[in-house]
Amino acid sequence: MAMLIAILAGLILVLCFCSALLRWNEVRYRKKGLPLGTMGWPVFGETTEFLKQGPNFMKNQRARYGSFFKSHILGCPTIVSMDPELNRYILMNEGKGLVPGYPQSMLDILGKCNIAAVHGSTHKYMRGALLSLISPTMIRDQLLPKIDEFMRTHITNWDEKIINIQEKTKEMAFLSSLKQIAGIESGSISQPFMTEFFKLVLGTLSLPIDLPGTNYRRGLQARKNIIGILSQLLEERRASKETHLDMLGCLMRKEENRYKLTDEEIMDLIITIMYSGYETVSTTSMMAVKYLHDHPKVLEELRREHLAIRERKKPDEPINCSDLKSMKFTRAVIFETSRLATIVNGVLRKTTQDMELNGHLIPKGWRIYVYTREINYDSFLYPDPLTFNPWRWLDKSLESQSYFLIFGGGTRQCPGKELGIAEISTFLHYFVTRYRWEEVGGEKLMNFPRVEAPNGLHIRVSTY
Ligand code: HEM
Repeated sequence: MAMLIAILAGLILVLCFCSALLRWNEVRYRKKGLPLGTMGWPVFGETTEFLKQGPNFMKNQRARYGSFFKSHILGCPTIVSMDPELNRYILMNEGKGLVPGYPQSMLDILGKCNIAAVHGSTHKYMRGALLSLISPTMIRDQLLPKIDEFMRTHITNWDEKIINIQEKTKEMAFLSSLKQIAGIESGSISQPFMTEFFKLVLGTLSLPIDLPGTNYRRGLQARKNIIGILSQLLEERRASKETHLDMLGCLMRKEENRYKLTDEEIMDLIITIMYSGYETVSTTSMMAVKYLHDHPKVLEELRREHLAIRERKKPDEPINCSDLKSMKFTRAVIFETSRLATIVNGVLRKTTQDMELNGHLIPKGWRIYVYTREINYDSFLYPDPLTFNPWRWLDKSLESQSYFLIFGGGTRQCPGKELGIAEISTFLHYFVTRYRWEEVGGEKLMNFPRVEAPNGLHIRVSTY
């Protein structure tokens, strides 16, 4: 009996301690003017609920506190904005002190010159340098031929095999960008490079704890190794004096390029390009394969578009820019996939000064999660929003409406949009004209900050 009482007393004590801790943390952040919301535990905040419940966490909090609420996630006091008007305002007003607010681990590992870490005139300069590498002319003359060559070989020999499409699209996104950046073919240094790159990606999504065995430590090490590989590449190219028609070549030809970047800036820009296009392009491609499998009529229409292109060409003739332009339905499939799968749930900003937002006072240094996911399911913009219906995008005005935030908005709007679309379209071109496929397995995975997607989706492929 005494034992039972002792256990009960212990339990009550723990409960009292926990509720006091929660209460203390709430009071700590109860500043005048802040929006409603809960702050969870000291240090950890509500990170566990946020990561575990994903979009449901957001919906539950919105039901309790409205579309503008406070929380504490990923180590930072955070305001979550789910209000479409306000989201647009935040994205359009970086100059008023609403700069990118990505986690420290991401900034440390991607480098201090990476685009998300720089603001103002430095951002303008780095973005200009990037845009010069992926302009429509560059896509037409240099990038598309490389993408075409890469895609047709990447998907060779899939016949009669079971393919882990998630793994394959990840390799595809990375290796294709490596070829565009430095003309590096699969095989040579690409394999060790890819291993390091995957570690770097994991590190950017981890807590910044620099201890042996942590993903953060591995990510930092991977960055060092990648910088080593890139420095050697720069050195070799300088020694050989050969002209290279790829992104690195463009950045190194300082006499021709009006953006004269230092080696450190060049390397951080290259890491930025690889990183930004990796998860987005691979997941969109994988989800397109999934949706096409589930919607035979869409697949039929898409195949019709691509077979018509093949009919106009010799068997091995690469696709060119006018083929790409003619892929209207493919573009619609890519948009509808990005919308329904919500490849990017939202973007992160932080305040550089105390400011008033939506009638509330937001302290300096708070993070703002501009949560754009819900607008993708708005039934006014997208009637019958849970249906996969690419035809809705054939009305061009849908792409230019102000709440189209799949590629972000304002001064940070995705500069790689057309390049990403070119890569996914080329992949789909070769995939649907060569193969048929059926699903053989896969499970759900939740990824932050990007997507909710099937993990390890497997397909059995056969010749079309
Ligand atoms: C389908 C594929 C893609 C999607 C859905 C996508 C989505 C986005 C979004 C939502 C943003 C805004 C981030 C923010 O506001 O903080 C962004 C920015 C960015 N994207 Fe993409 N992206 C895609 C492909 C690519 C590709 C292929 C590249 C390669 C060049 C790229 C490079 C970038 C860069 C460098 C930024 C940062 C721009 C800046 O801060 O000025 N993206 N992307």
